[in-house]
Amino acid sequence: MLKIIDLHASVEDKAILKGINLEINAGEVHAIMGPNGSGKSTLASVIAGKEDYEVTQGEILFENESILELAPEDRAHKGVFLSFQYPTEIPGVSVTNFMKTAINETRKARGLEDMPANEMLKMIREKSEMLEIDRKFLSRSLNEGFSGGEKKRNEIFQLAMLEPKLAILDETDSGLDIDALRIVASGVNKLKSKENAVIVITHYQRLLDHIVPDFVHVMFEGRIVKSGGKELAHELEEKGYDWIKEEVNA
Ligand SMILES: Nc1ncnc2c1ncn2[C@@H]1O[C@H](COP(=O)(O)OP(=O)(O)OP(=O)(O)O)[C@@H](O)[C@H]1O
Ligand SMILES: [Mg+2]
Repeated sequence: MLKIIDLHASVEDKAILKGINLEINAGEVHAIMGPNGSGKSTLASVIAGKEDYEVTQGEILFENESILELAPEDRAHKGVFLSFQYPTEIPGVSVTNFMKTAINETRKARGLEDMPANEMLKMIREKSEMLEIDRKFLSRSLNEGFSGGEKKRNEIFQLAMLEPKLAILDETDSGLDIDALRIVASGVNKLKSKENAVIVITHYQRLLDHIVPDFVHVMFEGRIVKSGGKELAHELEEKGYDWIKEEVNA
């Protein structure tokens, strides 16, 4: 599904990503960990196509086609979802209306008609029940006065509604209380299928107890310096990152 080959990217002429190689197949969950500033969020932004970042070398293939020249919304229409990709606050636009627009824009890009209103309502009802989202929440203005946990819940709701092929969740655990963490994790688990893939960027083993990854990658100074199975996350939790830095510098 996603193939990243020797990817280099910079911000304002400062090199941040220094040769990332990563392959993700449908049905897989990948966790990306690593110390602050190692380039995890940058990688997510570059995959999603955020304009601040310049790709200086390498390639990103999504379903065997380069997406490097595509605008962020075109990547989204192809099925790439990044949490945080939407404006933080939209006064006067409800969570529900925002979702309707997003879904119909994606359909339009794929040459489909608007989703019939009754179908949309049914989908909203099903997904919000699945994620234990309160009805009142759906009519609130998007992100206006949302608590950290509510923002995260809203992101997972968007994920559930848009059904992307590749979902990239950047630190979905930060600021979530235990219940919200469980709901988010169970949401991701329920949305997992043979057809889609998930990248979870996180600092905490705790989240990975709920969303069990198939692969764990450790980023350090703009590179993936170690990859392994879910046990790698446990090892990091126990030992921290110093041993990895020592390995890299050895
Ligand atoms: N838009 C930007 N302008 C300037 N510097 C940036 C920008 N985006 C990222 N950087 C720099 O790139 C480096 C990597 O940042 P990034 O946010 O990718 O790290 P991270 O691994 O996600 O860290 P954290 O774990 O703290 O979230 C940092 O030194 C950061 O300051
Ligand atoms: Mg980050």
